[in-house]
Amino acid sequence: MTSSKLLSLIFLHQALVVFVLDLPNAEGLKIGFYQQTCPSAEAIIKITTAQYISRAPSLAPALLRMHFHDCFVNGCDGSVLINSTKNNVAEKDSAPDLSLRGFQVIDGVKTAVENECPGVVSCADILALVARDAVSMIKGPYWPVPTGRRDGRVSTAQNALNNIPSPFSNITQLEASFGSKGLSVKDLAVLSGAHTIGISHCFPAVTIRLYNFTGKGDTDPTIDPNYAAVLKKICKPGDLTTLVEMDPGSRKTFDTHYYSIVSKRRGLFQSDGALLSDSETKAYVLSQISSGSTFLKDFGPAMVKMGKIGVLTGKSGEIRKRCAFIN
Ligand code: HEM
Repeated sequence: MTSSKLLSLIFLHQALVVFVLDLPNAEGLKIGFYQQTCPSAEAIIKITTAQYISRAPSLAPALLRMHFHDCFVNGCDGSVLINSTKNNVAEKDSAPDLSLRGFQVIDGVKTAVENECPGVVSCADILALVARDAVSMIKGPYWPVPTGRRDGRVSTAQNALNNIPSPFSNITQLEASFGSKGLSVKDLAVLSGAHTIGISHCFPAVTIRLYNFTGKGDTDPTIDPNYAAVLKKICKPGDLTTLVEMDPGSRKTFDTHYYSIVSKRRGLFQSDGALLSDSETKAYVLSQISSGSTFLKDFGPAMVKMGKIGVLTGKSGEIRKRCAFIN
């Protein structure tokens, strides 16, 4: 083959690779969706997120959880960010979302992005990018976030209640919940590892487990009794305000320590402990506490998958001007 033929083949190959990379995937999302329409969007999002996280690193887990709650209700469409109105109780005001924190970060980032490119970047994408950036800023894993999500116009508390898994779930319920979103049993085991960072309120998930497991003043027999005794010192019956670490001693570090506590029956919620009731999730938990743990490498791909649940793309939905209000 002549060198000019070889060169043109190489160029053709490169052009094809660029073409293929540039194509939106099945969900209509692609890496760098705003490259033409708002080239600095991702940088502005990162810088603004950093301003919040450097002052308050504990917002990182809150933002990760917010993205999860967004994706599980109507897909990742920013519906979790919408405020209630006099005619509608929004997701935000449902029981599972009352403990979400960090809405001010999304609003601050949105304002910064709107100042540069008004009406271009969706709140759903901002939330997905902020969650990724916040986690990586506390030295957690980093994952590529395909963008191009559009914002939904529906947000109801009832949808949140129906779709966000309860901390009282058993493994069958958890697998059904994740399965209904196209997530696998492995994804459940991997994404539950997000509880390596952050905090929970004593009520209701912990106090009911400790004091009223079957409605007879009893404690969940599957929790390590020594750990239940420790928790009873922190969380008194009827305590609505006290916060407790989900991964004691390691709640600021994104690591495999969560799996270690779960394996010792010290997971904070029934849903954490439930990972020991299925052979596949149990095997995942145990494999993470050996030297060959894969969690830090598994987490990003599972987040990418979660970030594609039920997305609106193309001409569906809207680009909200303010994340808390439908246009
Ligand atoms: C498997 C089902 C899950 C259940 C039942 C569950 C339940 C909960 C509950 C009850 C809390 C404490 C809320 C509070 O009282 O303040 C919590 C916190 C948290 N969850 Fe989950 N969760 C699940 C999966 C996930 C997933 C998939 C993620 C992310 C990928 C996640 C990330 C977090 C984080 C980071 C926190 C700490 C939030 C903070 O510090 O404000 N969770 N979760």
